Amino acid sequence: MSILFVLRTSNGKSTVINAMLRDRVLPSGIGHTTNCFLSVEGTDEDKAYLKTDGSDEEKSIKTVNQLAHALHMDESLDAGCLVRVFWPKTKCALLRDDLVLVDSPGTDVTTQLDSWIDKFCLDADVFVLVANSESTLMNTEKHFFHKVNERLSKPNIFILNNRWDASANEPEYMDDVRKQHTDRCVNFLVEELKVLDREEAPNHIFFVSAKEVLNSRMQRAQGMPETGGALAEGFKERLKEFQCFERRFEECISQSAVKTKFEQHTIRAKQITEQVKSIMDAINIEAAEKRVAALEDREYQMDRLEFVKNQLNLLIEDIKKKIKAISEDVESKVSTAMGEEICRLHVIVDEFHTDFHPSPQVLKIYKAELLAHVEEGMGKNLAYRCSNAVNASVQSTQQYMIESMLPLLPSSTQSQVSMLVNSRKFDMSYDLNCATLCSDFQEDIEFKFSLGWKALVHRFLGPSNAERALQLVDQKFQAPRPALPQAQTPSSGPPSIVALPNQQTGLMTQEDLIVAIASLNSRTSMGALVVGGVVWRAVGWRLIALSASLYGLLYLYERLTWTTKAKERALKRQFVDYASDKMQLMVSLTSANCSKQVQQEMATTFARLCQQVDQTQRELEAEIRQLTAKIDQLETVQSRSKSLRHKATELEKQLEESPSS
Ligand code: GTP
Ligand code: MG
Repeated sequence: MSILFVLRTSNGKSTVINAMLRDRVLPSGIGHTTNCFLSVEGTDEDKAYLKTDGSDEEKSIKTVNQLAHALHMDESLDAGCLVRVFWPKTKCALLRDDLVLVDSPGTDVTTQLDSWIDKFCLDADVFVLVANSESTLMNTEKHFFHKVNERLSKPNIFILNNRWDASANEPEYMDDVRKQHTDRCVNFLVEELKVLDREEAPNHIFFVSAKEVLNSRMQRAQGMPETGGALAEGFKERLKEFQCFERRFEECISQSAVKTKFEQHTIRAKQITEQVKSIMDAINIEAAEKRVAALEDREYQMDRLEFVKNQLNLLIEDIKKKIKAISEDVESKVSTAMGEEICRLHVIVDEFHTDFHPSPQVLKIYKAELLAHVEEGMGKNLAYRCSNAVNASVQSTQQYMIESMLPLLPSSTQSQVSMLVNSRKFDMSYDLNCATLCSDFQEDIEFKFSLGWKALVHRFLGPSNAERALQLVDQKFQAPRPALPQAQTPSSGPPSIVALPNQQTGLMTQEDLIVAIASLNSRTSMGALVVGGVVWRAVGWRLIALSASLYGLLYLYERLTWTTKAKERALKRQFVDYASDKMQLMVSLTSANCSKQVQQEMATTFARLCQQVDQTQRELEAEIRQLTAKIDQLETVQSRSKSLRHKATELEKQLEESPSS
């Protein structure tokens, strides 16, 4: 605790301190004007010493005169210096509680006021203004306290009106003077400095005589009667008042000590609660902002997920329809193209040229090469007819899929996915498989005379009926007679011949019957003779001879023109007929196959896109879950920051209500 005694020279500051210390510690009186700040504090050592500013050297002092001498001899000391006087605690009870009494120099206070205040006043707990009761409070004194009051909030101030013993000389004015001084001092403390209220202020104003108190106390210390010296009248009252000052002073010091001890903690605690409050407010605001942002984000993501789900369902239906439509379209296209190509098969076959020879080995190779040629040619033609159109529609459908699905994907993956899908190259394979299709093709390049009876039958009955009729004739001549007992008589012959095919096939008609008769007649020489005889009679031999020779010539001509080339042509023709029939059967299969390829291609693309959308959905769901967790976390942060803020406010209230503040 630091107590500063201030103001005007020779008012008795040093004397007051000495009176309180009950000893002449500090030099006072005429010729002992204090020339620097002097602090008196207790030491546990039993000898007194002093320390000057900026030096740790302990200079021993035995008597107050020595101290006075030391202070006057030291020329480096000026009004702004501090000399610390250490006085044995054993000699003075007041110094036992770490009290420091500071005497100010009795020089003009105005010159270095600011630096003094900085150096000595800011640490002072109590100020004692030692005024002279023989005069009134000076403006310089007031000015000093105004300055102090600006720097310290509500400093503790006592005003001692010293030299009150002088009033004893004029007892008739004493009360008036006292009242006058008191009013002025109260006014100064209450109105001007505003450090005390009107009730408290009188308790801080005392009328004392330090000189008397010091003298009496020293007398007493030396075992002499208190009133040993020449004492003015009213000394007892003045002594009591001084004691009263000392009591109040001690009370104030102890209160101030408690305050000082806890004030720092209270201030620090208030700072901490203030900081905690502002941190919690900041956390709360930040968490609220983040929570709102997260809520908005979650709302957006949920909307997006909903949109993606709905849109995907719609698109699945739409794209399924599209795939179906394009598959059907491809099927019809391929089917039409194939039909047309089959009609033009003879062109492809005619384009085939390689060595031909009727021998079986050469024929085998020839046919294999022909098949390969047809396969290649057909494939090329079909590709030429369909592929461009099919590819274009496949691509446009794929593009449609991508365009409708891409908005469902996050923009970061969009370009990647479209590249991935576009990089697929679709090429339709027609897979005609001519080799297996025509594996059992059997050519017939034996010479056949165009007017031979077989050819005539073929011409008149058509290929299928002729075949059956010829088979029947072969069976007739090869089968044993008992199978046909009624056939011995010409009249009963025909019904038995008819009966056989009817049993076998059930399809033989009247035509079959005529064919059978014609075949039978041409085979039997008997029949020939009969016919010859009839014709002989009818047209005469010349015409017969002419016909026979013409017939022979024609035969000869045909026989001679039946060359390898003709055989090749016949083979090609037969092949075209055969392959056309077979391929006709394959049209629907091939077109279905093509449509299936397209469908598969589309389905693969769509599946890829769907996979990406699924992935997006999963990502969105994960993000929503994360955001929900984040929102919960932020809510917890908010509620915790609120409760901590409440706690801080509660603590602040408690601190404000506590007596130390
Ligand atoms: P500076 O150090 O010069 O400022 O003086 P100061 O305020 O310390 O005064 P100091 O104690 O030296 O006293 C100055 C003179 O006033 C001394 O001669 C004291 O004896 C005298 N004096 C101090 N107190 C009283 C008092 O109560 N009554 C009377 N009559 N004289 C006093
Ligand atoms: Mg002095």
